[in-house]
Amino acid sequence: MTSNYSQQLQIFLDVATEAALAAGVILQENYRKLEHIEEKSRPGDLVTEADKQAEAEILKVLNRHVPHHQILAEESGKLGQTDSEYTWAIDPLDGTTNYAHGYPISAISIGLSIKGVPQVGVIYNPFRDELFRAARDLGASCNRRPIRVSQTEELSKSLLITGFAYDRRETTDNNYAEFCYLTHLTQGVRRSGSAALDLTDVACGRLDGYWERGLKPWDIVAGIVLLEEAGGKVTAYDGSPMDINSGRILATNGHIHPHLSKALIETPALSEWESGK
Ligand code: IPD
Ligand code: CA
Ligand code: CA
Repeated sequence: MTSNYSQQLQIFLDVATEAALAAGVILQENYRKLEHIEEKSRPGDLVTEADKQAEAEILKVLNRHVPHHQILAEESGKLGQTDSEYTWAIDPLDGTTNYAHGYPISAISIGLSIKGVPQVGVIYNPFRDELFRAARDLGASCNRRPIRVSQTEELSKSLLITGFAYDRRETTDNNYAEFCYLTHLTQGVRRSGSAALDLTDVACGRLDGYWERGLKPWDIVAGIVLLEEAGGKVTAYDGSPMDINSGRILATNGHIHPHLSKALIETPALSEWESGK
């Protein structure tokens, strides 16, 4: 990779940082003062004025710096040049349910893919004032300090995190069985309500692994770069290369990756699990 390429990534990283910090101000200003909480696709899939205002602010910054790029934003959909090799995946508020309840676990996630491959990621949690940044081959940091994944090697010693998509009431493939099985095999499985923060917390070694289904590119593009640059591994559940449009992600410190992959593949059905088989 040329240094020109790295310099270009550094510029995009700074653009994403500017946008995330500006959106962070909006999330702080609206926190616990919401007037409009609406449901989107399904019961429980919420959107607030903070999601919309934060997204508008991010789009303003991107339009100023990279007007010819393509954008995939959660609240506005596809925007910009559809034939561009550069696609920004934007979640202006990841953890909307938490935010709407006044539970301060939410973040802004801004990722850039080039030719379909995640290259730049910024995730900002305004409530802890934690700014996670990464670009391909340039490393990952939290508040400008380098971050690294954990060294945990055994599933039995690991602390994991996962989530449950909004369609969980409509499918038996809802991650409940995997949650129970992995809770049994590990020191615990957490559920934060923000996929972006789940990825940052594996990237900085607070957690050892994360998996989830039903995700969108705006939930994970930024976090994938962060985790890989922090020394972690991201694949499909079965260990094959990750497809950012598949909705499924297995993201770990690398050491527990084969063990968590195996457990996900061999997870017994919930009915078998309950009867103690
Ligand atoms: C959600 C969060 C949550 C995950 C859901 C996502 P939103 O995003 O990342 O952790 O379990 O699948 O949709 O709706 O808060 O932006
Ligand atoms: Ca999200
Ligand atoms: Ca969101």
